[in-house]
Formats: sequence, C-alpha cells, structure tokens
Amino acid sequence: MAKISIFVGTVYGGALMTARAIQQALAPEHQVTVYEQPALEDLQKDDSAILVCTSTTGQGELPGNLVPLWAAMRDTLPQFPGRPFGIIVLGDSSYQTSFCGAGDLMEEALYELACQKVGDTLRIDAMETLEPEAEAVPWARDWAGQLA
Ligand SMILES: Cc1cc2nc3c(=O)[nH]c(=O)nc-3n(C[C@H](O)[C@H](O)[C@H](O)COP(=O)(O)O)c2cc1C
Repeated sequence: MAKISIFVGTVYGGALMTARAIQQALAPEHQVTVYEQPALEDLQKDDSAILVCTSTTGQGELPGNLVPLWAAMRDTLPQFPGRPFGIIVLGDSSYQTSFCGAGDLMEEALYELACQKVGDTLRIDAMETLEPEAEAVPWARDWAGQLA
C-alpha cells in the first residue's frame, strides 16, 4: 500500500478527469488523494508519493490552479530528500516548442525540493488521443508498483 497525492493542473478538466480515473483504478490497493486546488500545505501534510497530473496552457505554461503551489515551492524551497514523484502531462504536439512544457516546470521545481523522480514522464498528446485516462491508468499502475 502506497500513500499517493495527486496534484492536478487543469484548464478544461481533462487532467482532473484523468486524475480521478487513476484514483479509482489504484484504490483500494493504494491510498490516493486528489488535490484539485493544490496548495503547499497539501504537499507538506505527509510524506506521500507525489504524482503531478497537469495539462499545459499558454505557451508551455502551468494551468492557473497549479500556479500557487508551484510559486510557493519555488519561493520557500521546503526540502523533502528522496521523496518520490512522477509526472503525467497533457499537451498537444501542434504546440511544437512548448509541447507538454508544464510537466518540465513541475519536474524542475520538485528537483529543487530534493525529491526523487520515479519512472519517465508520461506525455499525453491531444493530437493522438481523446482519452488521456486510457494511457494514464496503466502508466500509473506501473508507477505505483515502482514505489518502495
Ligand atoms: C489556449 C491553449 C494553450 C495551450 N498551450 C499548450 C502548450 O503550450 N503546449 C502543449 O503541449 N499543449 C498546449 N495546449 C493543449 C492542452 O494542454 C491540451 O489540450 C490538454 O489536453 C488540455 O487539458 P485540460 O482539459 O486538463 O486543460 C493548449 C491548449 C489551449 C486551449
């Protein structure tokens, strides 16, 4: 049983729907909490594994609901040495240079907190699929299996 916190970034709801599908698929084997309006306190309240599930907006930017957490992480730099994290990022490959850029922003910020990445980033391309959860759920099962 792993304790997992999913931090969602979404504009139109696709990443939230994906996070909920993961929560449903991983329960009851794992204890999964989904944060729709993530704040730094949510990150600090326990030592759960961190799963970011975010879309990308603007030109490689984070959705507005994830910006407060990201900014607080960068401003205060709380340290969580070795705490595991994974990244699922939704994007659209027609945004060539900023494809899935939000995932890179969160990855960079988590490394600054001394967290440890587990698995490769899952990039879900809206040009390829209309069902992000179909890719995300099997990836998340595998990712959760890699948690110590
Ligand atoms: C205004 C706008 C800007 C976007 N910018 C990017 C971008 O820079 N890079 C990218 O990979 N995808 C970009 N996308 C695609 C979204 O990330 C993609 O459609 C995603 O599935 C939306 O997920 P959501 O429903 O959780 O917001 C953009 C979409 C919109 C509508």
